[in-house]
Amino acid sequence: MLLLLLLHKLRPSFTILSSSSYYSSSLSFLSSCSSYSDKKVSMATIDESSLRKALSDKQSALEAQGNAVRQLKSSSAATKPEIEAAIEALNALKLDKSSIERQLHALISNGEGAVNKEAFRQAVVNTLERRLFYIPSFKIYRGVAGLYDYGPPGCSVKSNVLAFWRQHFVLEENMLEVDCPCVTPEVVLKASGHVEKFTDLMVKDEKTGTCYRADHLLKDFCNEKLQKDLAISSEKAAYIKHLLATLDDLSAEELGAKIKEFGIVAPDTKNPLSDPYPFNLMFQTSIGPSGSSTGYMRPETAQGIFVNFRDLYYYNGSKLPFAAAQIGQAFRNEISPRQGLLRVREFTLAEIEHFVDPEDKSHPKYSEVADLEFLMFPRQEQVSGQSAKRVRLGDAVSKGIVNNETLGYFIGRVYLFLTRLGIGEERLRFRQHLANEMAHYAADCWDAEIESSYGWIECVGIADRSAYDLRAHSEKSGVQLVAQEKFSEPKEVEKLVIAPVKKELGVAFKGSQKNVVEALEAMKEKDALDMKATLESKGEVEFEVCTLGKTVTIKKNMVNIKKEKKKEHQRVFTPSVIEPSFGIGRIIYCLFEHAFYTRPSKAGDEQLNVFRFPPLVAPIKCTVFPLVQNQKYEEVAKFISKSLTAAGISHRIDITG
Ligand code: ATP
Ligand code: GLY
Repeated sequence: MLLLLLLHKLRPSFTILSSSSYYSSSLSFLSSCSSYSDKKVSMATIDESSLRKALSDKQSALEAQGNAVRQLKSSSAATKPEIEAAIEALNALKLDKSSIERQLHALISNGEGAVNKEAFRQAVVNTLERRLFYIPSFKIYRGVAGLYDYGPPGCSVKSNVLAFWRQHFVLEENMLEVDCPCVTPEVVLKASGHVEKFTDLMVKDEKTGTCYRADHLLKDFCNEKLQKDLAISSEKAAYIKHLLATLDDLSAEELGAKIKEFGIVAPDTKNPLSDPYPFNLMFQTSIGPSGSSTGYMRPETAQGIFVNFRDLYYYNGSKLPFAAAQIGQAFRNEISPRQGLLRVREFTLAEIEHFVDPEDKSHPKYSEVADLEFLMFPRQEQVSGQSAKRVRLGDAVSKGIVNNETLGYFIGRVYLFLTRLGIGEERLRFRQHLANEMAHYAADCWDAEIESSYGWIECVGIADRSAYDLRAHSEKSGVQLVAQEKFSEPKEVEKLVIAPVKKELGVAFKGSQKNVVEALEAMKEKDALDMKATLESKGEVEFEVCTLGKTVTIKKNMVNIKKEKKKEHQRVFTPSVIEPSFGIGRIIYCLFEHAFYTRPSKAGDEQLNVFRFPPLVAPIKCTVFPLVQNQKYEEVAKFISKSLTAAGISHRIDITG
């Protein structure tokens, strides 16, 4: 055969070779990716405290032996062999101690791993940048932190990932895809809570004004303490580990107190830091030339879907469940972008909003994923210091660890998506949010975390956000974003009716009447029935009106509360939403790391940097080149190339001989 065709059908994977002689860096190690397993992490947790204890015992023995040697030396009765034996014992203890220190150091920094991880990452990043997978944006002007361009092979990988995302989610589930603008009017993001709450806590270097994310400084401090302070007691180590696990729960005041407790200062200058304060991550802009209409660059694509719910629901034949999907840019003015492509200020999000009846969160295709088994890290295991374990998804759902079937279904589908892309399954885990890490309205949240040289990174967030978003937009816009369940036969239902008597309330509360009426109407069923009982027994009741910030006295003649029987033809409700949200850049970076390795060249005189991509994401699927330079074979090569193009298979043709 004179033409060599490397098609993915013939080879299990596609590789891009980059010789290190082409690049300045020569690599003398092989990637140790497969050894960064969760198992190792958990073993580290188990052995670390016993090693610390052994180290502290050895230190005490060493001090005692040192004293004994000094005493012998100063005693006139001690013989030379006695002193020599004591010194020998002292030296043996010193050797033991340094051996334990080495073990401990090896354990907590993953042995050579910490150094290798850094070198490994450097090799990956160098190769990616040199091969133009990505480029720091505006590089000729020295770039802008947190902004990156994808170059040609990077664009191919990204479009392959997005094409597979569309196939795996949008096509498979008949999702309704939309494409909404990035510029978003303020009212939308006020309703969603982003204007008020989309903040991170920031501290400033008190002298230079440089800004840092407060939780990141504390996290870095804790990690460094655990890794480098060999003398740390096991109690202190446990305290710091607990702090790390619950970092997201800390308020500004608590975070500030911890920063003071540990004496944390600005990393670059060692200057003191300000107290933490919230910083809104949205980029603000104005819409139109007058400057009077505030807008923001969207921090997520989800809101575009929520505000279109009513139309999408009708488009879907007024039936639930259904999902809408959107791929698009999101913008977050991160305080201190770091970790390359992992924390950037503009990134591609792919989001799914699956709308479901809150009373029935079963999923018709749940059985297709129930038998999948993978690493799960429920909150109980996190707070008790255990590690992630392999769990059958169906068991996690049936035991109530995962809140419902639909959430479980999407966790399973995300697992299949990521592993089919080429993410190593031992380096993928699903971590449940701690109770306080979740928004108050959320029923349950799980992050798909992928292990990279930076540690475990959240790449996909999968949340049951209940009915929060649709309710918030219904309230703000006045447009009811609801669904109906039509009954086959009318149903007799008992309904609670709260009827404020506006005339009496007006006399009693004058200008505040409206607030009192609204608060009465908004009462939950149980509170209303309690009020009814108190009014019947005592004639009046104290009632808190939040919007007035005070308690008022409600008398029996001011409100009628009763249960009424009614015939209903349908049930009207606000759907719950289950949202898988994919950070495409983070997934791609982790893919790069998982696909990367080095190997010696055939001549053995240099190291080759290799990306072993699965065919699905490989930027180029195959190369066509004649083995013998001859005009006739060139023509055949061109013909094959044309046929590949017609079949939509990306390839290279090389007829240079
Ligand atoms: P983090 O805690 O890492 O800041 P987050 O919890 O704020 O992330 P979400 O708001 O859940 O993230 O966003 C959904 C997804 O968007 C994340 O799972 C992640 O993959 C991606 N993402 C979020 N922020 C960034 C960023 N600054 N750069 C790149 N991707 C991001
Ligand atoms: N829509 C997912 C998030 O950004 O929180």
